[in-house]
Amino acid sequence: MIQYLEKSSIFILETKNTQYVFGIDKAGYNRHLHWGDKCSANDFEYADISGENSYNSMLDEYKQEITPFGSTMYRECAIKARFSDNCREISMHFENYDMDGDILKVNFKDDYYPLRITLCYEVYEAYDIIKRTVTLENIGADNIVFDRIFSAEFSLPSEKPYTFRNTNGAWGGEFIQTDTVLDGGNLVYESRRGASNHNASPYFIAYQNADENSGDVYFASLAYSGNFKVSAGRDVYAVTRISIGMNDFDFSHTLLPGESFCAPPVYCGRARGFGEMSRNMNRFCVDCLLPKQFHDKPLPVLYNSWEATGFDVNAKHQTELAKIAAEMGVELFVMDDGWFGKRNSDRAGLGDWFVNPEKFPNGLDELIENVNRLGMDFGIWVEPEMVNPDSDLYRQHPEWTYHYAHRNADELRNQLVLNMTRSDVQTYIFNCLDELLSKHNIKYIKWDMNRPFSQTGAENLQNPQMYSYLHTMAVYNIVDKLKERYPHVQFESCASGGGRCDLGAISHYDQVWTSDNTDGIDRMTIQKGYSLLHPIKTMRAWVTDIAGINKPCSLDFRFNIAMQGSLGIGGDLTKYTEEDLEICKKNIAFYKSVRNIVQFGDLYRILDIEKDEVLCNEYVSTDKTESILFLAANGTRFYKKKCNLRFAGLDAHKTYSFTLDGIEYKKGGAYLMTVGIPIYVRGADYNRAVVLKTV
Ligand code: DGJ
Repeated sequence: MIQYLEKSSIFILETKNTQYVFGIDKAGYNRHLHWGDKCSANDFEYADISGENSYNSMLDEYKQEITPFGSTMYRECAIKARFSDNCREISMHFENYDMDGDILKVNFKDDYYPLRITLCYEVYEAYDIIKRTVTLENIGADNIVFDRIFSAEFSLPSEKPYTFRNTNGAWGGEFIQTDTVLDGGNLVYESRRGASNHNASPYFIAYQNADENSGDVYFASLAYSGNFKVSAGRDVYAVTRISIGMNDFDFSHTLLPGESFCAPPVYCGRARGFGEMSRNMNRFCVDCLLPKQFHDKPLPVLYNSWEATGFDVNAKHQTELAKIAAEMGVELFVMDDGWFGKRNSDRAGLGDWFVNPEKFPNGLDELIENVNRLGMDFGIWVEPEMVNPDSDLYRQHPEWTYHYAHRNADELRNQLVLNMTRSDVQTYIFNCLDELLSKHNIKYIKWDMNRPFSQTGAENLQNPQMYSYLHTMAVYNIVDKLKERYPHVQFESCASGGGRCDLGAISHYDQVWTSDNTDGIDRMTIQKGYSLLHPIKTMRAWVTDIAGINKPCSLDFRFNIAMQGSLGIGGDLTKYTEEDLEICKKNIAFYKSVRNIVQFGDLYRILDIEKDEVLCNEYVSTDKTESILFLAANGTRFYKKKCNLRFAGLDAHKTYSFTLDGIEYKKGGAYLMTVGIPIYVRGADYNRAVVLKTV
């Protein structure tokens, strides 16, 4: 719900449990007033800020929805422009507003220069989420150059320091949670690599005295897969402010007369505890953000050939794998890298999206038909944004890569990045994929991207510093167009594992590859980090032959962990024993019986592997009639660990039955959630999956 108080020019945005309030003061400035619990509308007013002196500016102390560069505002600003006469100050004042149901647009105009700035808010009441965007419009006759365009700015209510949670990491160790107290100064999470990357997430989570179930947690996530910047600061007035948007470290955008630009959207909320935050975002993403084709459908159990075969793919061996996969209950067989061009290693072939005739002398259809006959759908790997110098495409079009004429191009994984901002490159890629999908019965595209950008020269662009944005949009557009033409095809976003996992990717792809690290033990941490602000259903998790990098873990253990997202299998099945195959069969059948709860239910993180030595995640169906509880530990400090397991998210008035460690329980939801049951965690490789059903 959105309300406008005319007398005070105050906008009140309300979700189920929160209120977000800002207004326009008498001077026409935008003023942030409140974010948190609901208060009476008539109580809001603009606090007078006094005590200004030459080193203490009133404007600098204002809490704002958006801060333009200039005047005596020295804090981080959200928008920086250069007008035609080189004036670099924006002086924006309220123009008018437009309210349409749950959407509010507030327009501001520069006092002199022809710039309109529109702040747009969309309230998703039931999910406790608000969407924010900023649109800039050149309403004059001269160009306006922007050096910074952030999507949103936030001011937090408490004057005490907040702790910021993000997930920092690296290839093979993505989504590692970090918690940093921001007492003073600034804290930055960013990507400068062209895409959102493995190192930090394009969001902020700021909290005080919070745990899974309580405490104030403020969060906002940028739906964008390019270079991003989240910049938080606690200033001399003890205000914690955060701005979030496209990274400005190498950024410049020119708006020609009559043009407008809408910055990537941000989704924000306030929750009570990290658990509520994750559940709100999870539901919101599933219902409102994920592409419509598959958002409400359970994702299939897939098999991926990469770890079994590497680049060495051919119809015979893939069919052998497919036969075993089908027997286990796999529903989708995905052939990974190696099927095209002269792709025998990572040194050649990228760009030549034509079936390798030596590996597939009878074409792709032989394998696809085999897979289909086995009752599975077929999927295929591509890396469309890249080219190996050793490829026909590069030999024909060396000018299609980002490059500088007099600099050497850095090759990473022996490849270069195609300049996706060029329309001929976009057409080439679209046509290659269109041909692949139109000629073959393919139901799944794994879209990979295995290097960051460098030498980002793009002669076709008036402003090459927009490459990251334009490249990202080109990728989204191709995926959207293909999805429209082939609505039965699922798309996975992958970038050497989790290098492009963000709400932007999730708005276009149906799922992501979380990490190349498939070690069951490491995955506990990686998946926890992923679950903070990303939907569970999109988290592809495979069981592979990596039976523990540092500590051994069994096949059952690996299944237990991988089942907590969208399950995949990735081992060399031809080497599996009868016993292994039975374990796979049993676990896949079990997963199918609970996947609706995992993929569409609410996640409660009950015990944390790092803090509690035991991982306990409970997924509860939305109607609370069923729940699945996963427990895992890989050795505890002493020979056994007793935990009092208190369930969560159940219906207090319903009775649930389940069996754990041979003991049958039939207990009320209230009892299970408040008193709980004792469990004893013993030894390495401890893993349990317990289904609770209402009686
Ligand atoms: C990186 C991905 O993360 C892997 O799963 C695999 O697809 C390889 N690329 C293939 O080159």
